Amino acid sequence: MTKKLIVGNWKMNGSLASNAELLDAVREGCAAGTAADVAFCVPAPYLAQLQGALAGSRLDWGAQDCSAHDAGAYTGEVSALMLREFGCRYVIVGHSERRQQHHESDDLVALKARRALAAGVTPIVCVGETLADREAGRTEFVVKRQLSAVIHAVGHCSSELVVAYEPVWAIGTGCTATPQQAQAVHAVLRAQLRAANVNTSHNRILYGGSMNAANAAELLAQPDIDGGLIGGASLKAADFLQIIASCPTAASV
Ligand code: PGA
Repeated sequence: MTKKLIVGNWKMNGSLASNAELLDAVREGCAAGTAADVAFCVPAPYLAQLQGALAGSRLDWGAQDCSAHDAGAYTGEVSALMLREFGCRYVIVGHSERRQQHHESDDLVALKARRALAAGVTPIVCVGETLADREAGRTEFVVKRQLSAVIHAVGHCSSELVVAYEPVWAIGTGCTATPQQAQAVHAVLRAQLRAANVNTSHNRILYGGSMNAANAAELLAQPDIDGGLIGGASLKAADFLQIIASCPTAASV
């Protein structure tokens, strides 16, 4: 079994003081070792703070978006190369909030994933259907279309992707996908990677969407769910630590 990966997505939340408190508590809670790899994806201005607070710890950090360009006249954008300089291990690309609020297309998301890989930062590629898609029976079609754009753009480097299945209707709503619903889509995504001749031994497919301390264990027990991308529950140390503790150890499965 691949080691699970638990990633906190702080979205546009935090302050220097509250971050320090949260990071201290999680760092301490993980000091004795964890069954999962753990990371935080934070607003860009806080990357230096995480680099300072987490260097030398078991915890990784990353950003929530990157530019599709390396450098140039792109006011307001942050390149993957810059993220690398701040020690980022991960960058989220194609989160549904960016697809919806910033009109990011599948092709743009794919270019961002390619830039990230070229800079040595692992992209966490988010895919997911809306409620209307699900009700119309289009879930599989939508997530495969979103992932296929990335596979096409990055080719054999697809073996390095982290994929996050985040049904849009489950994000921030308290309406989590059932373990069976999530498992079914994860299996589809893994089969898609395999069908593209990707060596999937390192790929991790995370579930995101109202994962919390109460429902994490059941979701994380599914065979194709390799971890979680956690929004709201990553802002409270106790809840986030409980989710980390819910990960089965390699020996327990
Ligand atoms: P949520 O967010 O856990 O608050 O639903 C998950 C995400 O958007 O990554």
